[in-house]
Amino acid sequence: MEIIKDISGIKDRLSNEKKAGHNIGLVPTMGYLHEGHLNLIKKAVENNDVVVVSIFVNPTQFGPEEDYEEYPRDLDRDARLAKKTGVDYIFSPEPDEMYFADHSTFVQVEELTDRLCGAFREGHFRGVATVVSKLFNIIMPDKAYFGQKDFQQFVILKRMVRDLNIPVAMERIPTVREEDGLAVSSRNKYLSERGRETAAVLYKSLKKARSLIKKGENDPEKIKNKIEAMIQKHDLTEIEYIEIVDPETLKSREEIRDKVVIALAVYVEETRLIDNIYLDREEIPHA
Ligand code: PAJ
Repeated sequence: MEIIKDISGIKDRLSNEKKAGHNIGLVPTMGYLHEGHLNLIKKAVENNDVVVVSIFVNPTQFGPEEDYEEYPRDLDRDARLAKKTGVDYIFSPEPDEMYFADHSTFVQVEELTDRLCGAFREGHFRGVATVVSKLFNIIMPDKAYFGQKDFQQFVILKRMVRDLNIPVAMERIPTVREEDGLAVSSRNKYLSERGRETAAVLYKSLKKARSLIKKGENDPEKIKNKIEAMIQKHDLTEIEYIEIVDPETLKSREEIRDKVVIALAVYVEETRLIDNIYLDREEIPHA
């Protein structure tokens, strides 16, 4: 495995790989790799000749009040884990390698970025779409792997790829969870012990919602109220949003029919956590 920090270096290596007829899988990350990332990497290793993991804490997707500076970073540890999982190249540029001082071009996906997290994190998805299109242009992967955990991110990037005719196949991989159901995330490490225990209620409330829907409840307001009540019982929590949406448009559903995604963002102590579940048509009575 090689760690490469410059754009021309990774382009050289990959152009040789392509000449050799190898197809390329890309897993974009911000590093501090955990089981969620490693699961994406495993899928990429299974299905591609060459796997590139990018590790780049992307400044343009963090708001001025957000955790860009404190975001955890540990390239040596990441490199060990990546190598063990079968990665061929880590691409880990410095910010000034990725962004010229006078960088002035951004990718803005309309509408989808105004909903859910986008309503609370202004400019976040513009930063994500911009950096991912840069990574696609640099690496030119055949396939790229993203987690269900960041469902809105996936929907937005998939729309970007479709709208801009970017020749990359987009793969969505299920959320990896801790034993108590909490979605694995780099930010979980900010939680105190009590916060960490509290955080399990997010997934617990989503599972409850799933079981209510399976029993025939089809009023989104009732489901949202149930989730809200379960979360609010815990004093360390503050709900940002709970939404039940159409998985393609991300618009709120008036009634639960066809497939839906239930998504939420909740502060536990100072840490903003997100989670979601996808309910297929088959799981919804009278869908
Ligand atoms: P990051 O938060 O590092 O996540 C990288 C990828 O890992 C994303 O596709 C995310 O959905 C996935 N992931 C994170 N936790 C997961 C879990 N518990 N189960 C499954 N997949 C999980 O998302 C980003 O970085 C950035 O926005 C990025 C796309 C790299 C652009 O900067």
